[in-house]
Amino acid sequence: MIKKEFTVAVVGCGIVGGGTAKILTEQAELLKKRTGVGFRLKYVCDLRFDRARELGLSESLFVTDFNAVCADPEVDAVVELIGGKTLAKTVIETALKNGKQVVTANKALLASCGSELFALARKNKSAVAFEASCVGGVPIIRALYDGLLANEITAFIGIINGTCNYILSAMISEKKDYGTVLKEAQRAGLAEADPTLDVTGVDSAHKLAILSALAFSTDTDFEAIPVEGIDRLELFDINTADEMGYTIKLLAIAQQCADGISLCVRPSFIKKDHPLAWVSGSFNAVSVYANNLGHSMYYGQGAGSLPTASAVVSDLISLALGYRETRFDALPLWPDRNQRLPQLPLERYAGRYYLRLDVEDKTGVLAQVTEVLGRNQIGISEAVQKDPQPQRPVSLVLTTHRTTEGAVKKAVTELEQIPEIIKVITIAIVDEAK
Ligand code: HSE
Repeated sequence: MIKKEFTVAVVGCGIVGGGTAKILTEQAELLKKRTGVGFRLKYVCDLRFDRARELGLSESLFVTDFNAVCADPEVDAVVELIGGKTLAKTVIETALKNGKQVVTANKALLASCGSELFALARKNKSAVAFEASCVGGVPIIRALYDGLLANEITAFIGIINGTCNYILSAMISEKKDYGTVLKEAQRAGLAEADPTLDVTGVDSAHKLAILSALAFSTDTDFEAIPVEGIDRLELFDINTADEMGYTIKLLAIAQQCADGISLCVRPSFIKKDHPLAWVSGSFNAVSVYANNLGHSMYYGQGAGSLPTASAVVSDLISLALGYRETRFDALPLWPDRNQRLPQLPLERYAGRYYLRLDVEDKTGVLAQVTEVLGRNQIGISEAVQKDPQPQRPVSLVLTTHRTTEGAVKKAVTELEQIPEIIKVITIAIVDEAK
């Protein structure tokens, strides 16, 4: 049902909540002109109002009791921007049980409890909209449930964590190691004081779970996604790969296979001419491969107050214009309406690899390495020996032809048995647009 007047409560007035309140109050006229809907912010619910005061929001909006907000018959939509998986879940459940429509940016909660919350929304003739949960202001969720609906999506590859992309870009451009860049980013307010979820890849995995559910009409099992972060990357590999024509990105990779889907988050080298290679700094991008459209890419700010609030408000507009009936009720692609497709183990992942072997500089080591790789059907594409540097052993750097993660893991286990081999590093290579 289209609504001409739409009343909103924002619960959680942090970075994104503050931005949402600001757009709803300061740009109400623009929203009305562009959508025909009059938006009224009735409540800003939080326990502290420092940020709300900084933004100059009227104190008449401030409340602390989310139950009262959810029970107010005038409120059409509750916007949950608290984050986390406990109180945020209670707020969403309370709002839905009161028949309110819900907008959330909470990727951690949706990745693990999305189906449950969607089912609760349906039971209460309501809806959950969540564009802001993935890739900030970039309308990738809308692309999946709307613009790309006439396609089968075969794969997508995303740079979907701005903190990691910022750190990796700075490691390359400034030739500084991970720890130094992270500290500088924290001092500049560009990385969280506790960046664990970002740098370990878990934040990207949350978003991958949500996006893959929509892309492949499945109920993704977040816990089964293999995840590797950027926190153990060494500058040596990034510099060596740079010389070989690659750049490093933390990629969220999703592929549809004959017998299931393959999902993973991992640092990967990509050829410098790949369209994702030029996505630098805190920007995000998702490359989508679809049967009719072919390759398309969605690029922009994946975080930040107004960029993310832009997605929140666009969801409010959609709700006012009938998202529940035309999208949430009408489409069978939401995770609560689908069985889980099998998620293939990482061993099945197919691609090229970069291998760095730190070895003692003795005759015959390279021959042993090539013998192990050959026995595991792994073809070598390039091989470079980096001369010993002070405090470093000799590094043999190899790139392989296309193989599988399973073959590489087996070969690495065998390589690690060779006494002259001190350490083996492997990094996946994504070198062509699919
Ligand atoms: N922490 C996230 C990032 C933003 O660095 O991209 C919110 O998803």
